[in-house]
Amino acid sequence: MLSASYLHIFSAALFILSLKWMGEVKTSRYGNWSAILGMITAIVATYLAFPFDHVPLMFAAAIIGSLIGIPIAMNVPMTAVPQQTAISHAFGSLSVALLGVAEYYQRVPHVDPFTMAVLSSEIILGFLTFMGSCIAFAKLQELIPGRPFVYKGSNVVSLSVLGVAAALAADLVLHPERQILIFAIIALALVFGFLLVMSIGGADMPTVIAILNSFAGISGAGLGFVLNSKILVVAGTLDGASGLILAIIMSKAMNRSFVNVLFGGFGAVSSNGNGVNSNRPQRTVKSYLPEDVASLLDGARLVVVVPGYGMAVAQAQHAVKELSAILESRGCKVRYAIHPVAGRMPGHMNVLLAEVQIPYSSLLEMDEVNPLFPEADMTIVVGANDVVNPAARTQTDSPLYGMPILDADKSRSVVFIKRSMNPGFAGVDNELFYLPQTMMVFGDAKKVITDITSAVKKN
Ligand code: TAP
Repeated sequence: MLSASYLHIFSAALFILSLKWMGEVKTSRYGNWSAILGMITAIVATYLAFPFDHVPLMFAAAIIGSLIGIPIAMNVPMTAVPQQTAISHAFGSLSVALLGVAEYYQRVPHVDPFTMAVLSSEIILGFLTFMGSCIAFAKLQELIPGRPFVYKGSNVVSLSVLGVAAALAADLVLHPERQILIFAIIALALVFGFLLVMSIGGADMPTVIAILNSFAGISGAGLGFVLNSKILVVAGTLDGASGLILAIIMSKAMNRSFVNVLFGGFGAVSSNGNGVNSNRPQRTVKSYLPEDVASLLDGARLVVVVPGYGMAVAQAQHAVKELSAILESRGCKVRYAIHPVAGRMPGHMNVLLAEVQIPYSSLLEMDEVNPLFPEADMTIVVGANDVVNPAARTQTDSPLYGMPILDADKSRSVVFIKRSMNPGFAGVDNELFYLPQTMMVFGDAKKVITDITSAVKKN
């Protein structure tokens, strides 16, 4: 139908604009609205393109989906967004995979080789993404242990499973009437998805989710070719490409290769469970009170705040904003150092700080803020850890080695707010705890920052 085609073009343009706008913090809200409008337009166009007798069933499906999806989206805490994304991908890829199977059964035995090749690839991608995303969800939600399940030759076993699935798919392309093969391919794709994600540590799950996102997109685009749905091809390709680009950016920011994330079993080898290398002599740290920090802040001219995952856990962003406001009212400049992989998802810190209306101009990326640290009177590390670990520069045996970090150790004093001596995501000790200019303030980030603010007000 002509009107449906125009609407599809319009929604494709909105999706493209949405990705462009989401690339910048300032325009990201437009990006979100553009994506929502694009999706509504695509759904309306799809309804228009179908014969009317299908519409009641499609409405029923949309209503049931919305009744489940809206409460989940409204209630999910910010820290649980990665696992929510994983489970959404699981359902998205399952639906694409099941549609692929349905399409096969509608066409068999007259499936031309091109269609069969596309269908079998998208079925493999769809089912492996479904299973992989379920495992990623379970790891992030801590329903199963997050550590990688690796053994000698595990990568060979996983890749062999995928190889057999690909060989059977090739056979199906030549003999589409061999219906039994489709079951074997589905089973092998599920097993591969399971083995692949089980062998990856919980810490790498956000990157894995981006990769799975990419697979789901490619699989959707494949189905679009078979169904001759241009909007599915466009949306699937955009999803596939953006997921891949995001995964590459995340791997780069962690100084890891893509292959290392997928097959490196990162996190399997650890030191003594506390992340502290047992071969090193036990060292002590200096513990301070919020009042000590407040007195040092008296007369400070430049303070850099380094937010990290702990700020998200403690929901300390409001308290951070209040402390900044009082410091700024006393003539102190406050800047926020944003590391590309601080937190647990891309843009995590930007979202939290935007929520409390901290101006974008105060948020500085790594290359802008690093030259400021030597001039800073104080750096306040709020629940961050790995992103300021100097081991990344020097310790070749550290999993963080090579990761670009924020140069917090170069500032005159460093206040480290965290609850214990536990390591961060990478599971390694942090040299910065032991430097002479470092003051450890133990406690929940929100409480500590609130106490510092009260003490500053009293001074
Ligand atoms: P982490 O290194 O994970 O450290 C977070 C710190 O927050 C922990 O040391 C923890 O110490 C502290 N913490 C937790 N809850 C707290 C609370 N309520 N109050 C105060 N402190 C609390 O965080 P980071 O520096 O943001 O680094 C992020 C890590 O995640 C990097 O290794 C990065 O590679 C990885 N990663 C990030 C992403 C993305 S896209 N952001 C994706 C994949 C992996 P205590 O337990 O002692 O309090």
